[in-house]
Amino acid sequence: MNAGINRILDTCQAGYALPGALYQDPQVYECEIRAIFLKSWLYVGHQSRIPARGDYFLFEIAGESVIVVRDVDGQINALLNVCRHRGSRICDEPEGHEPRLVCRYHGWTYGLDGSLRAAARTPEGFDRSQFGLRRLRTKVFAGLIFVNFDAGAAPFDAIERDLEEPLRPYRLERTKVAHRQNYAIASNWKLAVENYCECYHCQPAHPEYSVGHGRAIPEAEYASLLEQVMERAPAVGLTQHLVRRSWLDSDAFGVDRGFDRYPLLRGHRSGSRDGGPVAPLLGSITGYDGGTTDLHLGPMTFGLAYCDHVVLYRFTPRGQRSTDCEITWLVNESAVEGRDYDRAALTWLWDVTTLADKEIIERNQAGVDSRYYEPGPLSPMEDFTQRFLNWYLATMGDAARSAAAAAGG
Ligand SMILES: [Fe+2]
Repeated sequence: MNAGINRILDTCQAGYALPGALYQDPQVYECEIRAIFLKSWLYVGHQSRIPARGDYFLFEIAGESVIVVRDVDGQINALLNVCRHRGSRICDEPEGHEPRLVCRYHGWTYGLDGSLRAAARTPEGFDRSQFGLRRLRTKVFAGLIFVNFDAGAAPFDAIERDLEEPLRPYRLERTKVAHRQNYAIASNWKLAVENYCECYHCQPAHPEYSVGHGRAIPEAEYASLLEQVMERAPAVGLTQHLVRRSWLDSDAFGVDRGFDRYPLLRGHRSGSRDGGPVAPLLGSITGYDGGTTDLHLGPMTFGLAYCDHVVLYRFTPRGQRSTDCEITWLVNESAVEGRDYDRAALTWLWDVTTLADKEIIERNQAGVDSRYYEPGPLSPMEDFTQRFLNWYLATMGDAARSAAAAAGG
């Protein structure tokens, strides 16, 4: 099996798109589950989704279900949604409120920290303390909840170390979810992430975005506009940070991070239909510096931070040719819908842009499924996609090699 994956990896050419087999071979997808999905720090949701003790939501990936719940101490826990008795699912609703987690099969009852509190007619000598729900590693960073299935994964520190300071003025832990929407994309997850990481396609595919965002403009113009943004930043309480450590310099297994400022165009101050603000300023930011920030928060989590709102992208594979792209719009926690922001105005740009992305990504999938598809060279404008692919190939190569070594004894 790993020999098969290695053969596919051997056909990959540096600087080129991936071969079709990496989007089609079921063994590749199985390897991705083990090597990436269950080993990476995954953003699951914003803490404001579960403000009260007992509030929970489910996060599902690769056939696994996780209960993300706030316990009586106010801590956020991620518990495997599998009863320790005979393995039944415990919570069914995608979100809700429970004082305890009770398995409906035989009534085993767990606390919000996952500890087993009650189980009737257990055998003699049964030690409840040994049968708590399996806990996933959890990290709440800037109000964003991350989980990791792998107890041995690299710690989350890298993102925190690099992004804590530049993100601080936005006070993401003092925002709330204004809107959340899922876009089901009929494609492999990598095609969706590859597309997210490059703006080569922005001019042809995203007129609504391109009019106000200087991502895809000629380099000299970009540099001079960015310099102006950086000069204005301190006056509005923003830092001048640029952290471009993504993919290539990642420590291990998807602890990838980036904080990348870029200029807005034509006097735009935010990501909206007319470039005007769509919500009150975030955190300690006191004005608009004419820039925006790209965030890389892992292999499947990205975002854009404007001065007045943040857009978070969460990509979750649902199968080899099925990917959920969930967008969360965050605004200042004190903002009131209808008074301080209009939901339709707030979400317009990234809704229209993501609908266009869904279409181009699905057409990309149809094309790479051709028997005659051959990978072509990437543009310098696709450098982040290139970094993602380098990271992906290195991660898959390591996984296939260590699986082969384990199998060979
Ligand atoms: Fe796009």
